[in-house]
Amino acid sequence: MARCHIHWRKVLICVCTPCIILALIFVYIAFVLCTAMTSKQMTGIVGQTHSLETVHFIAAGTNSNKSFAPYPKTFWELHSNGGAFWNQLQLAVDRSLNPILRPNNIKRGFISGMFNESLLRQSFSEVTDLDSTRKKFDKLPQQIQEFVSHMQRRNYPTLIQPDGVCGAGSVGEKEPPLLLLAIKTTELNFKNRQAIRQTWGQAGWIAGQKWNGSRGEESGGYVRRVFLLGKEDPEELGVDTSELLRMESQNYGDILQWDFKDTFFNLTLKDLLFWDWFSRFCNRTRFVFKGDDDVFVNTLRMITFLQEQLKMPQAHKALKDFMVGDVIGAALPSRANESKYFIPDSFYKGLYPMYAGGGGVLYSGLLAKRLHNISKKVHLFPIDDVYVGMCMIRLNAHPVHHPAFLTFDFPEKKEEKCSYHSILLVHKRSPNQIVRLWAKLKETQTQCWSVPLRKAKNKENKQKPKTSPP
Ligand SMILES: *[C@@H]1O[C@H](CO)[C@@H](O)[C@H](O)[C@H]1NC(C)=O
Ligand SMILES: *[C@@H]1O[C@H](CO)[C@@H](O)[C@H](O)[C@H]1NC(C)=O
Ligand SMILES: *[C@@H]1O[C@H](CO)[C@@H](O)[C@H](O)[C@H]1NC(C)=O
Ligand SMILES: *[C@@H]1O[C@H](CO)[C@@H](O)[C@H](O)[C@H]1NC(C)=O
Ligand SMILES: *[C@@H]1O[C@H](CO)[C@@H](O)[C@H](O)[C@H]1NC(C)=O
Ligand SMILES: *[C@@H]1O[C@H](CO)[C@@H](O)[C@H](O)[C@H]1NC(C)=O
Repeated sequence: MARCHIHWRKVLICVCTPCIILALIFVYIAFVLCTAMTSKQMTGIVGQTHSLETVHFIAAGTNSNKSFAPYPKTFWELHSNGGAFWNQLQLAVDRSLNPILRPNNIKRGFISGMFNESLLRQSFSEVTDLDSTRKKFDKLPQQIQEFVSHMQRRNYPTLIQPDGVCGAGSVGEKEPPLLLLAIKTTELNFKNRQAIRQTWGQAGWIAGQKWNGSRGEESGGYVRRVFLLGKEDPEELGVDTSELLRMESQNYGDILQWDFKDTFFNLTLKDLLFWDWFSRFCNRTRFVFKGDDDVFVNTLRMITFLQEQLKMPQAHKALKDFMVGDVIGAALPSRANESKYFIPDSFYKGLYPMYAGGGGVLYSGLLAKRLHNISKKVHLFPIDDVYVGMCMIRLNAHPVHHPAFLTFDFPEKKEEKCSYHSILLVHKRSPNQIVRLWAKLKETQTQCWSVPLRKAKNKENKQKPKTSPP
């Protein structure tokens, strides 16, 4: 009897032990997966209160448009992006930030900023085989070759900066600046800078838009100004203009220059280095307008517009993601090799993410700081506004379109007396035009106070009858 009993116990142990072990393993795996996923969510929640930033991992297959790179449809599918260089590099980075594949990386990433940069570096050694990269790009236009050979570097030294303050205009400030105007320009565009300084780029306390019975004082704010420059090559240019720029900086205190060659494909560096400078010196500035030096800005309206944003319910929450401009969705890279914007498909495949046209865009100071952080996890891209869009999707933030940003000029042929009162920005205007338009804007303020900002519907209605006659 006893023997038989023992025998049955043995059978039971033999059969059940593997079952129990399997069940335990299963429970363990489920537990690990769950903690990996919830810890990611937890850091997201913590991130809101302690302003630590989480990467918004874009899960595979969430983009309905299949041609949208760089994410594979299913994350286990190994794909090479058809060998597109940028996509491969970024995929290597995004993979190490995937909360399911690498939960520990996520945690480490928040503790050490160094981790991010080593991540970018590491992805290069993972992806590139120098000889084959060189071969791939050596038949392409010079500027893309230049870009590829320098795209690992972003820490260029500062040559000139405003003395420790956040741009020109700090004198007599009684509260944190409302707006910082950050304008991309080049050494030779002195005339543009001078026109901007005298007109829409005036710093100091600026009154908002005047309206019937008011002088706009109640909606004013402090404005600062800074120009963002790279460096001309004196040998290529034939003259050395650096001394002139130094004098200009002494006079106006609004020059921020870095030691890299000021070329079209290096413009992204200005955004990156500007965010870095902003995070250190402009801590409390509410909003940033980042634009080119060939646009006209209705600063008065912009100030009123920003004050309205601050008064909105839940303004504080909304400011975390606040970016408005002329938003372009699902654009395709230019594949015409003679274009300034040419991006070969060996470099980038897929659509561009939604982005705000770089001619002029408005965002919150808080978003500028978040962009600064996230940019350490995104490889440089040669087109500056597209790069900002790439950073935005990784913050799970989306630029909002506003029809008062006319980065492609007025859609109507004819300009009316009050048309400049209905916009926040228009491209493109010469320095002489800027001076004339500013004078006219001031002159017509009382007549045009009631003109509202352009609205999407308005635009369509106006556009149709007016585009037909020549
Ligand atoms: C993706 O977007 C592009 C550009 O808007 C469009 O041409 C294409 O048809 C879209 N593809 C799909 C599958 O929707
Ligand atoms: C303000 O507007 C009203 C009508 O909208 C007008 O009757 C009044 O004269 C205006 N006041 C001033 C100071 O312009
Ligand atoms: C960007 O600037 C660096 C440093 O001056 C220069 O070596 C590089 O060629 C520039 N890149 C492009 C694309 O012009
Ligand atoms: C921003 O300013 C606050 C105080 O106003 C300071 O504690 C903080 O360190 C500053 N942040 C940076 C990144 O400089
Ligand atoms: C552009 O492409 C055409 C043909 O595709 C080629 O003949 C030409 O050399 C290319 N130009 C440059 C600057 O690469
Ligand atoms: C950016 O990162 C730094 C260092 O990791 C952190 O202290 C800061 O709070 C972050 N800023 C924002 C706005 O997330």
